[in-house]
Amino acid sequence: SGGREHAIAWKLSQSKKISRIFIGPGNAGTGEAGINLKINPEDFEEVKKAVSDNDIKMVVVGTEAPLAGGIHDYFLNHPHLKDVPVIGPVKNAARLEWSKDFAKSFMTRHGIPTASYRSFGKDEFDDALAYLASLTPPYVLKADGLAAGKGVLIISNYEQAASELREIMEGKFGKAGEKVLIEQFLDGIELSVFIITDGKSYKLLPSAKDYKRIGEGNRGLNTGGMGAISPPPFVDEVMMDKVTTRVIEPTLAQLKKDGIPYVGFIFLGMIEVNGEPFVIEYNTRMGDPETEVVLPLLKTDLVEVMEAVVEHRLDELTVEWHPDTAVCVVMTSPGYPGSYPTGLPIQGLPTPFGESRVAVFHAGTKRESGRVVTAGGRVLAVTAWGPSLLDARAQVYQAVPSILFEGRHYRTDIAHRAFPHKI
Ligand code: AMP
Ligand code: GLY
Repeated sequence: SGGREHAIAWKLSQSKKISRIFIGPGNAGTGEAGINLKINPEDFEEVKKAVSDNDIKMVVVGTEAPLAGGIHDYFLNHPHLKDVPVIGPVKNAARLEWSKDFAKSFMTRHGIPTASYRSFGKDEFDDALAYLASLTPPYVLKADGLAAGKGVLIISNYEQAASELREIMEGKFGKAGEKVLIEQFLDGIELSVFIITDGKSYKLLPSAKDYKRIGEGNRGLNTGGMGAISPPPFVDEVMMDKVTTRVIEPTLAQLKKDGIPYVGFIFLGMIEVNGEPFVIEYNTRMGDPETEVVLPLLKTDLVEVMEAVVEHRLDELTVEWHPDTAVCVVMTSPGYPGSYPTGLPIQGLPTPFGESRVAVFHAGTKRESGRVVTAGGRVLAVTAWGPSLLDARAQVYQAVPSILFEGRHYRTDIAHRAFPHKI
């Protein structure tokens, strides 16, 4: 039901290979790309019913929660579903995302560069505090499990870090915080790298940069993402070669060696420190809003790519990309990332995009008595693409101001520096 899912549905809808697309639960935008189904993707019985009722032939999982819940395993273990391929890893492989402790020990065991860390159980507060005291600020605290993007805290003050540590251990993030990781802080430029794999071989997608903070100059609270660019101008071949040989290839080789089958996307949250890549985290799905800048660049039919993945013949397919740059600006509800009102009517939405190089992907929207209204914190992800970063940026900032809803907010500085250090 987010911008990522709208972008996936939009790209799939351009394929000549499929007749119908269903989105569960979807939003006002996905309703233009296909048919929205009123289902909860975490309720596998509902998903099963939707698949049989509509004769669905392939399932693409957008977000992490159903993967962590084992949706792929559920399909494999069910006689009527086992022949319906799922794009997204089985639960044991999705663990790379749903357990940060697992991901860190996987990386450490296999020599994949990442920040040094230690993890502590909820009754090891004293040890955790002693480790915290041995580090220099800022302090990085992470809940082990999925915490809806809120489980990472970066704090410069020791007393405050210690008190947050206690709160996490006392259940601030529920079960996700039963283990806590304390990590060395890495100071550098963040970068999102994506691959899609069939378990045998993989294809690299264009990399992206996510703008995380609510305000200009990358100030203020952390959000789900306020904008993105792809590919970022500061990522060169040397860096991508390092990421490939030090991170991607060892990750896939070790998954194979550990007997963990993997089908789907891997999103590497990276940080570049003095020209060296480190992994911050693995995600076992695409990013949001990164998908909204990566998929418009795909030239090859996305359904062909996905078929090659589920048939384990990705190595035979050439995947082509437009040599363009894409820029996305996210429009948010007043108050986000804090509490915000919903149900605000949205005006000025362009009619479906056709051949245009601007796409308005819906995130938190719904249709209510014929009108499109806000229904979430991140409301719209407006993307433009063109032969240069400047061209895409000019187009996106031409499109955004004409889309109106009460109290709308967006950053005016997305893609405003060629080398957006830490932005
Ligand atoms: P999230 O997307 O909620 O997982 O946020 C994680 C964010 O925390 C990353 O995008 C980084 O900005 C930051 N972060 C995580 N780990 C570290 C680290 N070891 N050093 C510096 N920043 C980090
Ligand atoms: N944009 C970051 C994420 O999708 O996790």
